Amino acid sequence: MSKLPLARLDRLLANLGYGSRRDVTDLMSRKQVLLDGVAVRDGGLKVPIGPDLPTRLTVSGQPLDPPAPLTLLMHKPLEVVCSHREPGRSVYELLPHRWRARIPALSSIGRLDKDTTGLLLITDDGPFLHRVISPKSNIAKRYVATLDRPLKGDEAEVFAAGTLMLESETDPLAPAVLEPLGEREARLTITEGRYHQVRRMFAAVGNHVTGLHRDRIGGLALPESLAPGDWRILTADEQAAIFG
Ligand code: URA
Repeated sequence: MSKLPLARLDRLLANLGYGSRRDVTDLMSRKQVLLDGVAVRDGGLKVPIGPDLPTRLTVSGQPLDPPAPLTLLMHKPLEVVCSHREPGRSVYELLPHRWRARIPALSSIGRLDKDTTGLLLITDDGPFLHRVISPKSNIAKRYVATLDRPLKGDEAEVFAAGTLMLESETDPLAPAVLEPLGEREARLTITEGRYHQVRRMFAAVGNHVTGLHRDRIGGLALPESLAPGDWRILTADEQAAIFG
């Protein structure tokens, strides 16, 4: 059996956003931190970081927050931004408040525009994030675009050619797959993640995107049960499906 990593309890709690080391010591002295039902007063206690830790360790009567590495799957709603720096409500505000103070920090894997909805992954797992966005992984991202004008009919060919140049860029786009779904609706699968890529691709063929939704990243589809604004922890199988 592989050995579980150990962490000092006071550092673990501080890194999960429960407060400074001093706040955490205070919580412990007020018997708010219980391990297997017994109050822990020694912040230096080494605890094994295993999947059962949140059920064994409670803070103020609640199960411990999930330790790192943590990856979330979110149905991003309209009108929220993916960046901490952009003005407006962010996707991080849809998560428990304490999680904003987690170390390592949670960040989205790539970004969706404020007016794009759909599948968004949020993680504190750096190697996983890099694997998903690395061009070497060649992960497909699938979108459904609603368009201002009817499709002309040549878009699939233009996008598949691998020669389309976006305004103010120097490298052509990799081939992308367009499937018309209606007169003004199309599914588009891309493998890159350039700035506003889908909107700019349709602009390059004389159209305008009025609605954009991402429904798939690699082999992972946005679960139908997840309403806009909802999120949950990504399972190991779902994580593997991305690369499958
Ligand atoms: N392409 C865009 O133009 N916007 C997104 O949000 C995602 C891909």
